Amino acid sequence: MRALFLYCLSLSASVWAQSSAVDAYVASESPIAKAGVLANIGPSGSKSSGAKAGVVIASPSSTNPNYLFTWTRDSSLVFKALIDQYTLGLDTTLRSEIDNFVSAETAQQQVSNPSGSVSSGGLGEPKFNIDLSAFTGAWGRPQRDGPALRSTALITYANWLIANGNASYVSSTLWPVIKLDLGYVVSFWNQTGFDLWEEVSSSSFFTTAVQHRSLREGAALATALGDTAAAQYTTQAANILCFLQSYWNPNGLYMTANTGGGRSGKDANTALASIHTFDAAAGCDAVTFQPCSDKALSSLKVYVDAFRSIYTINSGVASNAAVATGRYPEDSYMGGNPWYLTTAAVAEQLYDAIIVWKRTGNIEITSISLAFFQQFSSSVTTGVYASSTTTYSDLLAAVQTFADGFLVINAKYTPSGGGLAEQYSRSNGAPLSAADLTWSYAATLTAFGARAGVVPASWGASGLTVPSSCSTNSGGGGGVGTVSITFNEFATTVFGENIYLTGSIDALQNWSPDTALLLNTDNYPTWSITLNLPASTTFQYKFIRKFNGAVTWESDPNRQFTTPASGSSVINDSWR
Ligand SMILES: *[C@@H]1O[C@H](CO)[C@@H](O)[C@H](O)[C@H]1NC(C)=O
Ligand SMILES: *[C@@H]1O[C@H](CO)[C@@H](O)[C@H](O)[C@H]1NC(C)=O
Ligand SMILES: *[C@@H]1O[C@H](CO)[C@@H](O)[C@H](O)[C@H]1NC(C)=O
Repeated sequence: MRALFLYCLSLSASVWAQSSAVDAYVASESPIAKAGVLANIGPSGSKSSGAKAGVVIASPSSTNPNYLFTWTRDSSLVFKALIDQYTLGLDTTLRSEIDNFVSAETAQQQVSNPSGSVSSGGLGEPKFNIDLSAFTGAWGRPQRDGPALRSTALITYANWLIANGNASYVSSTLWPVIKLDLGYVVSFWNQTGFDLWEEVSSSSFFTTAVQHRSLREGAALATALGDTAAAQYTTQAANILCFLQSYWNPNGLYMTANTGGGRSGKDANTALASIHTFDAAAGCDAVTFQPCSDKALSSLKVYVDAFRSIYTINSGVASNAAVATGRYPEDSYMGGNPWYLTTAAVAEQLYDAIIVWKRTGNIEITSISLAFFQQFSSSVTTGVYASSTTTYSDLLAAVQTFADGFLVINAKYTPSGGGLAEQYSRSNGAPLSAADLTWSYAATLTAFGARAGVVPASWGASGLTVPSSCSTNSGGGGGVGTVSITFNEFATTVFGENIYLTGSIDALQNWSPDTALLLNTDNYPTWSITLNLPASTTFQYKFIRKFNGAVTWESDPNRQFTTPASGSSVINDSWR
């Protein structure tokens, strides 16, 4: 009895010590993270010289790696965090930064780039030079989360402006920009693209989740402004919500991050999707993957557990305590390491969950979330636990401790000046890769905010139902159709050798040499194939030779083509 009492006392002392360690980290790191974000925004940020007004650089690092570019995804997530601070009244000094961002994005949308023009898929271009000119080098493009995330940031601002008597500015200046992005989502959500880590070309849970959100809040804003596009947004949002459910892996009990890529599918992608589509009004709804939903909590456990044994710095940590997490366990970029922003995202998802449990006054445990909760109490069973029960208060405290643990780990590996790079070493925790990553700072600020109970504005996630059968956006609803494309490749071959085609989209087998498409020899030495491909789509491709089981690829760079909006095209290439 006495031993147990002492054990409990020391346990609660360590919990108390941890919580005050997080308090100290929040106090010291908050101003550094905020200054770190602002330093990376043009025109006057101290580390972003050369960036146009409102342009967010990913990092000042210009070599190994060179991140001195602006990504639509990173910029939009960063500005969503700033717009939340402004519109929630937490920082009233940000108005001119936000207005600069609006101007920068308005200009950037119109810049023709390798993904197309503003009307032919160019909004899916992932990154630009910091003077807002197009980046024309080879890259994993398109990435279809950018327009959705940008519209979400701008819609948050627009809703606040309308509520504060400035609807005319919304109609004249914000809505045309938002509408272009929403139109892109409507047209392209049902096509593959590169994921948020810019590596896998397939469908991606994060992308689909943020696309769904953008059309829901876009429909509400369109209605408020009297724009009839609202109906189209609502129709496609329902289709996307239906598709979103298909990522669930019922055996592994987690959302599979990507439909392609040949990995486990355990990925920070899903925790990030959950926090960036958080809507406290939706409670613990699993259909929209709310942070406290059974599916999101189970996915979080599976994701976190994937890093317990692979990083040296996680060794010796109890199997139910926080560990450093990275993008996905198979990651090999820079050696495959923990990231500040992914570890912070885990904490944020848990804090968001706590916000909702406190609001609703209960915690529900289902068979799907049981393993998550059993980490904290091996004897707990499924059921609904009201705030008056000790099970509720014990679990709430345990999840708070678990969440704080992730921030303690980031704190431990934050260097003394408080600067946050992209990653820290899996073997010794030393900072790695790009210094002063804007997204690391923004992710830290939003995790701190969630810990303090900050609740972003609702986006309409509550009460949604999933259609009984899933539809695509083609045929009605303003979607895109297909066009006929003939590929001619001039290539002399030896007997038994054949020419195949593969590329970055589903219809071109997603870069698979095994399932690449065989061309015909009707006009040898020109090899040919005619395919129906999605209209107004930019893709990359290459021809390959197969002979006696050996595969030879054409030399770099990848070839690229944008299909027309309608009709047909012929592409004449020659082996290289
Ligand atoms: C509306 O907001 C814009 C952008 O910040 C600002 O320039 C304009 O002065 C505002 N108008 C009114 C009437 O507040
Ligand atoms: C398009 O939507 C359908 C219906 O949800 C789905 O089966 C298909 O996988 C989707 N394809 C892409 C590339 O989004
Ligand atoms: C492609 O080659 C065919 C046959 O040589 C020719 O008729 C056609 O004009 C060429 N098309 C383009 C777009 O170069």
